[in-house]
Amino acid sequence: MIRSHRSSAVSLELSPTLARAIRRKLLRWYDDHKRDLPWRSRSTDAYAQWVAEVMLQQTQVDTVIPYYERFLKRFPTVETLAAASLDDVLTLWQGLGYYRRAVNLHRGAGYVVRIGGMPRSSTCLQEIPGIGRYTAGAIASIAYGERVAAVDGNVARVLSRLFYIDSPVSDRDTQKRLWTTADHLRPRQRCGDFNQAWMDLGSAICTPNAPRCDLCPLIRECVGFQAGVAASLPVKTAKKTVPETHHVVAVVKSRGAYLITKRPTGGLWGGLWEFPNRSCPVESGAKTVLNSLLDCLGFDGATQPRRAGVLSHRLTHRLMHFETFVIQPSRRNGVGLDGDYSWAKTIELNERALSTASRKIFALANKLTHTQS
Ligand code: ADE
Repeated sequence: MIRSHRSSAVSLELSPTLARAIRRKLLRWYDDHKRDLPWRSRSTDAYAQWVAEVMLQQTQVDTVIPYYERFLKRFPTVETLAAASLDDVLTLWQGLGYYRRAVNLHRGAGYVVRIGGMPRSSTCLQEIPGIGRYTAGAIASIAYGERVAAVDGNVARVLSRLFYIDSPVSDRDTQKRLWTTADHLRPRQRCGDFNQAWMDLGSAICTPNAPRCDLCPLIRECVGFQAGVAASLPVKTAKKTVPETHHVVAVVKSRGAYLITKRPTGGLWGGLWEFPNRSCPVESGAKTVLNSLLDCLGFDGATQPRRAGVLSHRLTHRLMHFETFVIQPSRRNGVGLDGDYSWAKTIELNERALSTASRKIFALANKLTHTQS
């Protein structure tokens, strides 16, 4: 029985009978429709679940699968991951984006090895750097069978519709309410399957834009559907306009190799390789900033830079514009190039951990060299 959807106390909305019906229907649906995903064949391996959950943050399942399989083949245990260099981890991660995840996972693996193995409860898992309540809940429920909820964006969407929760989904109170609701619904048995059933339902049926309510096992219980508003939930707060930054990039090519430099660890794209660049506030001319960059690199006046164009790259919190120049000095006579600089041929660039923005910049520069040579 569904009572008022406007009540703020979840316990009033969610009668034991309703909770039982939801558990039974959702688990039965999962048994019939669950996706065959590679991490599900290692369901008792907490480390394997951890890797999957980290990769699945902000990334579609189909994109994750090949990365996950390569990663687990190369780093089958938390010990092998902890013993690897960050460079190797980032190389395997490249193309998946949000590199901070890889840096944190690597750091977390070091922590786990130091404390003697994976913590055995969701509470203790949250002591690993980079693991929050959702990831800990997912790992502990799936790998250890712990009776604990796991609410990510997809689960939040399903619950918002099921219980017609129409306050902004990222608000603290809404999040609290979603977690409380999920806590009330946890089954005593099969909590890992139950959490994954929410995820699969969110991915196959209760999709963001055009939910397939006709196929949903919870259609009779869904207050959002009955009110005709399922597709408009959850309520999101308007996206803030993100700040824009401008940069000048020098793609320096000499004897078939490109000059690349490694970003300091910590901060954006920490530990990844990129083409030398400088921030370029709009009021400074790109040519002036480029000349100063080339001066520092030791290529000043040696060759005429050619402009390849502007590459714009959107991150969650920033829109970056890279005005790209190609420089082909006759000699690799750069000065002050230390261990954080390296010359790499195209084939080696493919093996280096480069950010996606740098790969796009490389493609832009190549277009120019191909059209002009
Ligand atoms: N999305 C996040 N975690 C997931 C999981 N374990 N299975 C399927 N989709 C997910």
